[in-house]
Amino acid sequence: MRLLVCGGAGFIGSNFARVRVHDHGDEVVVLDKLTYAGRRENLADLADSPGFALVHGAIEDAQAVASAFAESQPDAVVNFAAETHVDRSIAEPDAFVQTNWLGTHVLLEAARQKGTRYVQISTDEVYGSIGEGSFTESSPLAPSSPYAATKTGADLLVSSYVHTYGLPAMVCRGSNNYGPFQYPEKLIPLMVLSALHGERLPVYGDGLQVRNWLYVTDFAHAIGCVLAKGVPGEVYNVGGPDECPNLEIVNRIVELTGADPRLIEHVRDRPGHDRRYSLSSAKVRTLGWEPQVRLEDGLADTVDWYRANPWWWEPIRSGEYRDYYERHYGRALSTD
Ligand code: NAD
Ligand code: DAU
Repeated sequence: MRLLVCGGAGFIGSNFARVRVHDHGDEVVVLDKLTYAGRRENLADLADSPGFALVHGAIEDAQAVASAFAESQPDAVVNFAAETHVDRSIAEPDAFVQTNWLGTHVLLEAARQKGTRYVQISTDEVYGSIGEGSFTESSPLAPSSPYAATKTGADLLVSSYVHTYGLPAMVCRGSNNYGPFQYPEKLIPLMVLSALHGERLPVYGDGLQVRNWLYVTDFAHAIGCVLAKGVPGEVYNVGGPDECPNLEIVNRIVELTGADPRLIEHVRDRPGHDRRYSLSSAKVRTLGWEPQVRLEDGLADTVDWYRANPWWWEPIRSGEYRDYYERHYGRALSTD
């Protein structure tokens, strides 16, 4: 296939691009704004692959989108492009509305012109928090954060383009991903790098919030199933095989890195913090998908990857991230 992968220089998009090029021999063109989270290094090993290109541009820029369509002549578009960090959306929501909602609209317009198959990458956060049981695709939408609200708005735009214009589009809602190339503002890489540097491990509130962990290549394979066999107009939930409270994850990272458990520090909770996420993946399983990686193994592999790849995270820790960390956590990173 020829794929236009928007936001493909980020964490999940780059892992998806790698799977498509290596396992499927697809020609992949990535359109990416290269924000702090979008990094050329994430795609370095694909640079010489036949048909691969990285185009620098924003999805809310209709001209950049038109050029990317012209360059890739895609059989399908997969949209990962987004502002993705909940804490940043609470501090500064503007870019979330711009990219996640308006940007999705611009992409949908371009796809509509050509009738291109389209997969929107969405999140379990559109359903809000659940006490018991798991969300299905027909659960009510109840986003809590500005991030989640803009993702919900995008999902509804996709649905409107299916119903109004007959666009062959699907929505794929993933639970919390983890694995290589995840920017260290997110829980697992933040805790791994902090533990390796002997820095404090800031757990929000009581740390008993539960997330439904999905290894990133498992998500990539699920998106591949939706791309190949998904029914236009349908939504597919993709939940990981394990649920785990944050504090348990942090304790496990302490063990895996050999860090001092006294580094764990309970800090002020995130405003409006969702207590638990859980997705039923029964529908996507009917397309032939099964998760392959359990949390215990995936977490150990992820710690190994961060240990083995300082070339990847050293430039991050000395750049914008340093200011973000200080602004958000009110303390400086250690000097490496
Ligand atoms: P990420 O922050 O690592 O990557 C986002 C990418 O989008 C970056 O490459 C960034 O440069 C690019 N981008 C941002 N604004 C853009 C714009 N205006 N135009 C073009 N590119 C832009 O995020 P991620 O964790 O890889 O998430 C990818 C997608 O998956 C997002 O849509 C997110 O909502 C969704 N998702 C993430 C998770 C998770 O746990 N990380 C779970 C479910 C769904
Ligand atoms: O559920 C899917 C979502 O998962 C995606 O849509 C988002 O893009 C992605 O960022 C992620 O959102 P979360 O808010 O769940 O992820 P984060 O890694 O920020 O936090 C995971 C949990 O860990 C959450 O309960 C907050 C907590 N946490 C996070 C950080 C950064 C802490 O306790 N301390 C921290 O320093």
